[in-house]
Amino acid sequence: MSKAPTLRLDRLLSNLGYGSRREVQDLIEAGYVLLDGDAIIDGDEKIAVTPDLPTRMTVEDEPLDPLPGLVLMLNKPVGVTCSHKEQGPLVYSLLPERWCERNPALSTIGRLDKETSGLLLLTDDGALLHRIISPKANIPKRYDVTLDRALRGDEAKIFAAGTLMLEGEDKPLLPAAFEAVSDRRGFVTITEGRYHQVRRMFAAVGNHVTALMRDRVGALALPDDLAPGEFRILSEDELAKVFS
Ligand code: URA
Repeated sequence: MSKAPTLRLDRLLSNLGYGSRREVQDLIEAGYVLLDGDAIIDGDEKIAVTPDLPTRMTVEDEPLDPLPGLVLMLNKPVGVTCSHKEQGPLVYSLLPERWCERNPALSTIGRLDKETSGLLLLTDDGALLHRIISPKANIPKRYDVTLDRALRGDEAKIFAAGTLMLEGEDKPLLPAAFEAVSDRRGFVTITEGRYHQVRRMFAAVGNHVTALMRDRVGALALPDDLAPGEFRILSEDELAKVFS
């Protein structure tokens, strides 16, 4: 059996965003940190970081926050941004404040632009992040697209051809699938993640996207009960769906 890694209690709590080493030291010394019901008052104490730790440790009577290796799904609302490069509140403002102080930090897995809503994954696991966004992974992402003008009818054929060139680029897009559901709405599935890709694909066929919502990453679908602005921790089964 492999041995669980150990970490000093003050470092564990500080890495989880509970405060600076000095601040968590105060919490610990005041008896606010309990393991299996007993206060640990020495911040130097080495803690075995086992997966069940959040069920055994409490901080100020609340279960310990999730350990590193966190993967979240967020239903991104329109108007929040994935990066400081765009103006507006960041998606991180939708998470508990402490979770934004963690080390390793939570990052979005790829991006949705400010006006795009839907399924956004976040993780503090850099290797997982790269495994999902790597072009080699070829993970399909499905978008529900609403358009300004009626479809021409040849969009599916054009997107599937693998020859569509976006303005300002010198490499054609990989084949993408399109399924119309009405004359101004459909689902497009892409495996790349070029800048504003879906909006630019429709601009290339003379249309304009008026609403864009990602509803699937791999076989993982945005759950109906996850309202815009809400998030939850992904289960192992859900994470496996991203790759299937
Ligand atoms: N394509 C876009 O145009 N915007 C997104 O946010 C994602 C894909």
